[in-house]
Amino acid sequence: MIFRCFGLSSRSERSDTRNQAEAEEIGSNNVRIFSYNSLKSATLNFHPSNRIGGGGFGVVYKGVLKDGTQVAIKCLSAESKQGTHQFLTEIRMISNIRHPNLVQLIGCCIEGSHRILVYEYLENNSIASALLGSKGKHIAMDWPRRAAICLGTANGLLFLHEEAEPHIVHRDIKASNVLLDAQLQPKIGDFGLAKLFPDNVTHVSTRVAGTVGYLAPEYALLGQLTKKADVYSFGVLILEIISGKSSSKAAFGEDMLVLVEWAWKLRKEERLLDIVDPEVTEYPENEVTRFIKVALFCTQAAAHQRPTMKQVVEMLSKDVHLNDKQLTEPGLSKNSGAFSSDDTSSSYRNKGKQSVNNPPPEISTSTFLDTESDITQIVPR
Ligand SMILES: Nc1ncnc2c1ncn2[C@@H]1O[C@H](COP(=O)(O)OP(=O)(O)OP(=O)(O)O)[C@@H](O)[C@H]1O
Ligand SMILES: [Mg+2]
Repeated sequence: MIFRCFGLSSRSERSDTRNQAEAEEIGSNNVRIFSYNSLKSATLNFHPSNRIGGGGFGVVYKGVLKDGTQVAIKCLSAESKQGTHQFLTEIRMISNIRHPNLVQLIGCCIEGSHRILVYEYLENNSIASALLGSKGKHIAMDWPRRAAICLGTANGLLFLHEEAEPHIVHRDIKASNVLLDAQLQPKIGDFGLAKLFPDNVTHVSTRVAGTVGYLAPEYALLGQLTKKADVYSFGVLILEIISGKSSSKAAFGEDMLVLVEWAWKLRKEERLLDIVDPEVTEYPENEVTRFIKVALFCTQAAAHQRPTMKQVVEMLSKDVHLNDKQLTEPGLSKNSGAFSSDDTSSSYRNKGKQSVNNPPPEISTSTFLDTESDITQIVPR
């Protein structure tokens, strides 16, 4: 189906004719091309009251299209200097990726220097604001709801890693990038966006030096980006969902630990469940303990000791006993980008390059399981 190409058809310049041809080409792939004017009226001239936030990619507005559909309109910052053709190619790739746990890209606007993305609007904002944010926007969530959010997010990430074509490493899994629909089902946003920016200006790489709490150590320190960096960030996210506390905004205990350090300390002191959000008054202890252990496996210092997302989904969704004797201290990347002082971290540094170019074989699922106990068996990969 070809959608109307607002604003692109009336101009005579050669480049715009080419834009139009490309726009129609992409229109045939079910991506809507919006005129700048139509997005201006959808947001009441990008009125500040419609601004729902802003991140490294640019500012996001809530908008209402002429047919009444609510949308989220993301105006990419000036750093996105990609040419029209390359931009459209990436947009086509992103919009072809569809899954119930991924935010759907509806269309885009590429007039003049404007590069704007139009997404489905998610009523309940993000995990960051609903669960970790200020009181006003807070939504109380019991354990089944939190477990469903963990599992749904894991399924979305599994789809990006294994089924999307091409496979996608998200790079920026965090609470503000997991949005919640009217039924509080999670949907991962912002996948594929890093490609819209030239490498040296991706907001993610500029953040490598600054973000506390989400970045896998090998990515923060060595810039090594693999699916396992997403697995690490996902592990941090599970801990946030269970504890109701933000990894990037809070420090824990007298030692001002980051969230994963705190979880590890509680495990050593055999009081792992102290991490559970006091708001969650009733919960199945075995299941919650399993989720926390999955998070600790995900945040292991050495990337090859972390599970794949397929294994994560299995461990979260089945009643298995995990072999937490396999766990070692989690890896950390702190403010300065430096590692924690433990030996695991420094050994990682030495193994650096080799692990990206010649990754060790995936660890079998049975490694994560306690085979001594009476368990539901998972077939090893
Ligand atoms: N489709 C959407 N529906 C509803 N709210 C959205 C949507 N997309 C983004 N938002 C909200 O807009 C705000 C800004 O999002 P944005 O992605 O620009 O920044 P961020 O997620 O904080 O950081 P980053 O740039 O690293 O992704 C967030 O609070 C997010 O919850
Ligand atoms: Mg975002």
